[in-house]
Amino acid sequence: MEISNIAVIGSGTMGNGIAHVFAAKGFKVKLIDIKPELLEKALATIKGNMDRQVKKEVITQEQMNKSLLNIEISTNLTDSKDCELVIEAATENFEIKKNIFRTLDDSCKPEAIIASNTSSISITEIAAITKRPDKVIGMHFMNPVPVMKLIEVIRGLATSNETYDTIKTLSEKLEKVPVEVHDYPGFVSNRILLPMLNEAMYCVMEGVATPEAIDTVMKLGMAHPMGPLTLADFIGLDVCLSIMEVLHNGLGDSKYRPCPLLKKMVAAGYLGRKSGKGFYDYSKK
Ligand code: CAA
Repeated sequence: MEISNIAVIGSGTMGNGIAHVFAAKGFKVKLIDIKPELLEKALATIKGNMDRQVKKEVITQEQMNKSLLNIEISTNLTDSKDCELVIEAATENFEIKKNIFRTLDDSCKPEAIIASNTSSISITEIAAITKRPDKVIGMHFMNPVPVMKLIEVIRGLATSNETYDTIKTLSEKLEKVPVEVHDYPGFVSNRILLPMLNEAMYCVMEGVATPEAIDTVMKLGMAHPMGPLTLADFIGLDVCLSIMEVLHNGLGDSKYRPCPLLKKMVAAGYLGRKSGKGFYDYSKK
């Protein structure tokens, strides 16, 4: 199936990044969220990130203007009805996703593919809500989407080969690298990444070293671009906790238990960069 019209549901960090990369490659994108002010904020973020790419000479001003014209905003989920692909990038909450998938399944063309950018919820379970489980798939982009090359493509139990092949080809058109992964808690990326971040948090909790020292060890000793605690703040501590809970519940092994300090910080509203405080203080930046 030829894909040229995409809808992205949710205009947060991941949603606006996904809209950005599709628009930049000439796809028509409908960016959908519940509130107009969220959509305006997302458009401003996309413009800011494209501006940065113009300044770095990754793209020209003309390419930026053309890309922005490819994005339309809407507060109506059913405005995705003419799209060949819908990518859900809403809040990481199964109840919210269930409602979105039900509505999309009823309103989208029967041949349309519905993908989820979920970082940890089961694609098989999401697919089972719809009458087209063969056309449901995971497209897990990484933050920041315009920069990171990977798309973790997750096959639910019922995902067809045709759907997988279409998404693989499409990912390559975006100049991303699709990697095939099967549907297990945390897939591959978060099953490996999050326990490392969680362990760094245990090191803080046990007083092994300061957050700065732990991040320096991993940056200078292992050539990670960001230390684990800076990265946890960047991802959001609430997101980190919810992924650890998915790993712990889904795999049932105590090695995945969320760090008590992480739980305490989330309870206190210390969610990382977005709340102004996490392992570091962002309030003055
Ligand atoms: N849009 C467009 N370009 C961006 C950007 C954005 N949002 N953010 C950064 N960039 C570009 C910069 O312009 C710069 O471009 P050049 O190389 O052409 O100069 C490049 O990215 C590097 O950025 P900076 O120089 O500002 O800063 P940096 O060198 O520290 O890199 C980073 C920033 C790319 C975020 C880097 O620190 C990094 O790779 N960090 C790790 C990110 C990571 O692990 N992401 C995965 C998170 S996990 C996830 O997403 C999955 C999940 O489910 C939780």
